[in-house]
Amino acid sequence: MSNDPLLQPYKLKHLTLRNRIMITSHEPAYPEDGMPKERYRAYHVERAKAGVALTMTAGSASVAQDSPPVFNNILAWKDEVVGWMKQLVDECHDHGAAVMIQLTHLGRRTRWDKADWLPVVAPSHEREAAHRAFPKRMEDWDMARIIGDFADAAERMKAAGVDGIELEAYGHLLEQFWSPLTNDLEAPYGGSLENRLRFTLDVLGAIRARCGADFIVGLRYTGDQDLPGGMTRAEGMSISQRLKASGLVDFLNVVKGHIDTDPGLTDLIPIQGMRNAPHLDFAGEIRAATGFPTFHAAKIPDVATARYAIASGKLDMVGLTRAHMADPHIVRKIVEGREDDIRPCVGANYCLDRIYQGGMAFCLHNPATGREATMPQTIPPATRQKRITIVGAGPAGMEAARVAAERGHAVTVFEAADRPGGQIRLTAQDERRREMISIIAWRQAQCEKHGIAFRFNTYAEAEDVLATKPDEVIVATGGLPHTEVLSEGNDLVVSAWDILSGDVKPGRNVLIFDDAGDHAALQAADLISATGAAVEIVTPDRSFAPEIMAMNLVPYMRNLQGRDTTFTVTWRLISVVRDGNQLRATLGSDYGDVTRARLVDQVVVNHGTRPLDELYFALKPASSNLGEVDYKALTTGGTQAVARNAEGQFRLFRIGDAVSARNTHAAIYDALRLVKDL
Ligand SMILES: Cc1cc2nc3c(=O)[nH]c(=O)nc-3n(C[C@H](O)[C@H](O)[C@H](O)COP(=O)(O)O)c2cc1C
Ligand code: SF4
Repeated sequence: MSNDPLLQPYKLKHLTLRNRIMITSHEPAYPEDGMPKERYRAYHVERAKAGVALTMTAGSASVAQDSPPVFNNILAWKDEVVGWMKQLVDECHDHGAAVMIQLTHLGRRTRWDKADWLPVVAPSHEREAAHRAFPKRMEDWDMARIIGDFADAAERMKAAGVDGIELEAYGHLLEQFWSPLTNDLEAPYGGSLENRLRFTLDVLGAIRARCGADFIVGLRYTGDQDLPGGMTRAEGMSISQRLKASGLVDFLNVVKGHIDTDPGLTDLIPIQGMRNAPHLDFAGEIRAATGFPTFHAAKIPDVATARYAIASGKLDMVGLTRAHMADPHIVRKIVEGREDDIRPCVGANYCLDRIYQGGMAFCLHNPATGREATMPQTIPPATRQKRITIVGAGPAGMEAARVAAERGHAVTVFEAADRPGGQIRLTAQDERRREMISIIAWRQAQCEKHGIAFRFNTYAEAEDVLATKPDEVIVATGGLPHTEVLSEGNDLVVSAWDILSGDVKPGRNVLIFDDAGDHAALQAADLISATGAAVEIVTPDRSFAPEIMAMNLVPYMRNLQGRDTTFTVTWRLISVVRDGNQLRATLGSDYGDVTRARLVDQVVVNHGTRPLDELYFALKPASSNLGEVDYKALTTGGTQAVARNAEGQFRLFRIGDAVSARNTHAAIYDALRLVKDL
């Protein structure tokens, strides 16, 4: 047996967990009609098969009708959940993984204009900044009802055969009782810490009465709200001790901080550029002080840090949650001594940011995650080897190369630059976003293991491609910034890429026109304002940077708000003219016939990219499919079989931004779903 600390079994009550690696609760927003159906099951089963010891399913599964989902959560208050959960649990058990589920009442952390339009409840009228609902202050019958709802939901989960449950306290109703900021009730549920903890102990007591002493029940909570006027570290420690003394809880799953604002949430669940494992020592302190089985996750991004967390005795179970979204096969790869093959989580947080926008959680660079029912996490070999030529080694081209290599094809990759990366390389020049380069580096390493021939410094023309005698050609040449959007003065502006690449020096007084709303504009603003320059970011949208989303915005704002920067929404750049040694920019509005002028020394335009598609159109007439893609086959996993030109010797496809400006996930997904069937 291995002596790797991570691979040692762990006994929690009567339950033996096969190793120390768990997936903490995270709602990927995959439920259908509030139920964990096929997509949901396939997602967890993939990870169970690969060896994870414990998967904490759901994320904030709702126990009550007046806790409507904020991001498509499981509705644990419906009886039909039992059958769906049972299927999921049984299948994961078949593969040796334990399954638990996180239950909650969101309290004020939701909205009233959802589901049944019931008022949101909390132990005070204080509203949560992130979800904006002004809550009803709870009455005695609300408390009795919700205590019963928790017990009912726990009983349903026991009937579904789960190995245990976890109650989500932090930021949700249970913690809203704990914190002086959100509880202004009278005794017995408000006032002293003992009173503020009473509701939680009543809930736990009701669950125990219904499910028995043997049923495993844990609590996920913050041991320090880290918020002025909030629950302090000393109170958190006292709560930990009281939970232990109650005898009602079997494990603690510790976090640190608060989630009522986007910055708070981002400190609790750090993203790229932020410190790794920032709360690990804190979790270890709680374990040392209480002797409780302690679980924890927060940007423990790699196996070495996870191993340290266990070996040092800070944790009993270590959560690798986003890491498992990026690579579901972490445990298998550790067991097989293939840690180098683990696809790294780069902290891009596309997964989490999407669910707060109403989308499903998808990993920026693993498009098979959440699509396990249709997309392979391991690529099966092809029945016939082909020659595949790929042009462009950005994220789309590199994924195409990786997948083609895994299929066993003979692959040639042309790239104009001296190394791979495309737009990602530009992004990763920013120290804060350096982790992004692993998207490319991992693929390059995988390709090199398969002996793929890269031809760098080669701007491939049609003849170069044809000289490789390809069966399939994939054009992944990306795009170039499109800045010609003005009625006058297009020659006077620079692109955000010019700034990011260092090709153009930042000005002193700069207007950035952001009509794409993605990272490039704010990354340029960050870089320019860091020099001490004044920067105004102008957008025609009604809020700025909509594509960046909530948690990804936080590091930008932390930098920009401390500098000479302003945001102007609902205005559009119309023209730029020279005015002495300055530039006069005219802004207009989609809302009316109004203009405003700005005098600056540099104008930066961020308006997406236009495809670099000359090569594609040069090759198109000679291809057998004339570049046509069968979308039905593409989206259902069928074989591409379009034949339009009997003379054609090869098929031609283009992917990623070479088709139209999208994002990294779209580019990589284009590549995976096409090439997996070639
Ligand atoms: C898509 C997504 C949804 C999440 N939803 C929940 C949730 O509902 N409840 C919860 O306690 N934590 C939730 N989390 C937080 C994770 O459990 C975990 O604490 C966090 O991702 C940090 O761990 P990691 O760095 O290993 O990913 C969510 C995380 C993600 C990525
Ligand atoms: S989207 Fe980013 S943070 Fe989320 S799992 Fe993928 S790499 Fe990790």
